[in-house]
Amino acid sequence: MSAAVRFSVSLDEQLLARFDEYLKGRAYTNRSEAVRDLIRDKLVEEQWQGGSETVAAAVILVYDHDKLDLVSRLTDQQHRRHELVVSSMHVHTDEHNCLEVILLRGPADQIRRAGDELVSLPGVRFGRVNLATTGAGLP
Ligand code: NI
Ligand code: NI
Repeated sequence: MSAAVRFSVSLDEQLLARFDEYLKGRAYTNRSEAVRDLIRDKLVEEQWQGGSETVAAAVILVYDHDKLDLVSRLTDQQHRRHELVVSSMHVHTDEHNCLEVILLRGPADQIRRAGDELVSLPGVRFGRVNLATTGAGLP
């Protein structure tokens, strides 16, 4: 880790009050850590906008396992994108429902497309692509 640098920021009083309010509802014990996280969050957002940068994502799917066609299409999709699929976890949440978490890693534009393809398959009851980072280049 590189050296920590202190710097001061001028801020509207009300804006700072809102920020402190925001921190109160979270587990932050000081403003510095919250500011660091906000900056990193923006940098990760930028990685995603770049398109070619390597990013990570967690795709969460809930679907009906009785829909055999959907189950095989989900598997097909993951095989077609196997170079992007790092891992997946499958939980049978009850007699009919499955919850699946698929971890993807690769170029941002490909990850976005692969994630969208999975969540938009007909029969998926809940689908979300959670954008993340591999952590590389993020102090
Ligand atoms: Ni397979
Ligand atoms: Ni299942």
